[in-house]
Amino acid sequence: MGKQKKIAIIGGDGIGPAVTHEAKLLLDLYRDKAGLPLELWELDLGADRFLRDGTTFPKEIQVAIQRECAAVLLGALGDPRVPNLEHARDILFGMRFGYDLYANVRPIRALSDRLVPLKGRTMKDIDIVVFRENTEGVYVGVGGQFKRGTPDEVAINEDINTRKGVERILRAALDHARATGRTRVCMADKSNAMRHAHELWYRVFHDVARDYPGIEARHLYIDALCLLLVQDPSQFQVIVTNNLFGDIVTDLGAAFQGGLGMAASANVHASDPTRVAMFEPVHGSAPPLTGKDVANPFAALLTAGMMLAHLGWPDEERRIERCVTQAIDEGSCTVDVGGKLGTRAAAARVRELVARDL
Ligand code: NAD
Ligand code: IPM
Ligand code: MN
Repeated sequence: MGKQKKIAIIGGDGIGPAVTHEAKLLLDLYRDKAGLPLELWELDLGADRFLRDGTTFPKEIQVAIQRECAAVLLGALGDPRVPNLEHARDILFGMRFGYDLYANVRPIRALSDRLVPLKGRTMKDIDIVVFRENTEGVYVGVGGQFKRGTPDEVAINEDINTRKGVERILRAALDHARATGRTRVCMADKSNAMRHAHELWYRVFHDVARDYPGIEARHLYIDALCLLLVQDPSQFQVIVTNNLFGDIVTDLGAAFQGGLGMAASANVHASDPTRVAMFEPVHGSAPPLTGKDVANPFAALLTAGMMLAHLGWPDEERRIERCVTQAIDEGSCTVDVGGKLGTRAAAARVRELVARDL
C-alpha cells in the first residue's frame, strides 16, 4: 500500500474538535478497512490549551510536523475567551506562512440542486475553484498602531504583494486550469483603487497568461466579480485572487454550496506537492453551535477527501463526495442543509455509506 503517511490532527476550537473527530473516524475507517497506510497524530492545540498553559504553536511541533507529516487536518480556530486571537494566528498562520503554503484551494461546488440558493440555478451552474493567495497581502501583519487610545490614533496594515508571491499563485491557478481541462481563469483585484499593489497583479496576470494559450484570462475588479458571481456563477471556472478577497469570496461561494458546513479547502505549496500540506473546512469555530451536536460535519469530511486526493488517492475523494451527496439527497444531514440529524449521526451515515462502498 506504500509508505506510511503521518497526518497531524488539530481539532482546535468551538465546533472544530467535533467535526474533526468525525473526519478522523472516517480516516480510521480508511486505515482499518481499506488498509490505507495512515498514521494519525492528534495534537492538543487551541484555545483550551492556550488558556491552560500559554502554549500556541511550539517551534518543536511546527518542525516535527514539517519533518514527519504528509498533511495536517485542522478543524477551526477562534474562541471568544481569547479576544485577540493570539493562539489562532500562531497556529493557522504558523502553518500557512511557516510551511509556505501559498495556494489556498477552495472548490465551490454544489453537491445537490436542493442546496443551491440562487433562483433558477442548479448544481450544474456551480463548479468553480478559487485559488486564494495564502502567504501575503494584509494578512502578514506588517503595520502598527500609533497614539493608540487617543483621539489622534493611527492604525496601519500594509498590503504586501511581491512579484514572486503574485506570480506563483497566478501560475498555480493557470496550471490547475490546464491540468483539469478548464479554459477560463478570472483574476480579481482592485487595481482601480489600489494603484500600486494591485497594478502588480494586473500586469503580472497578463504577462503570465501568455504562457497559457487556450485559456481565457479574464480580469475583473473584485466588486464586479461579486455581482457577476451571484447573477451567473456558471461563467466562472477558476478564480484567482489575493488573500483578503479570496477569504471573502469563498464565504460568498460557500452560500452557493449550501452554506459553510459544505465548503472544504486545501492549503498547499502548489509547485512542490511533496511538502506538508494543510487541510481545513472553510468555516470557523462557530461558537454558538459548540457542544450542541448541530454543526454540519460534511465540510470536514469533504476536506478529509481533498487530503486523501492530495496524498495520492483521488478515487477516495470522489467516493466521499458521492456518499456525502447521497446523505444529502436522502436527508441524512444536519439542519443547516435541511436534515434533522445531529453532527455525529450525519457523519456516521456517510461513513456507513463509504464502508459499504469500499
Ligand atoms: P464561522 O464560520 O464560524 O460561522 C459563520 C456562520 O456559519 C455562522 O452562522 C455559523 O453558525 C455557520 N456555520 C459555520 N460552520 C458551520 C457548520 N459546520 N455547520 C453549520 N453552520 C456553520 O465564522 P464567524 O462566526 O465569523 O467566526 C467564528 C470564529 O471562527 C472567529 O473566531 C473567527 O476568527 C474564526 N474562524 C476561523 C477559521 C479557521 O480556523 N480557518 C475560519 C473562519 C473563522
Ligand atoms: C479562513 C478564516 C481565516 C482567514 C481567519 C480565521 C484569520 O476566515 O480561513 O477563511 O481569514 O484566513
Ligand atoms: Mn474565512
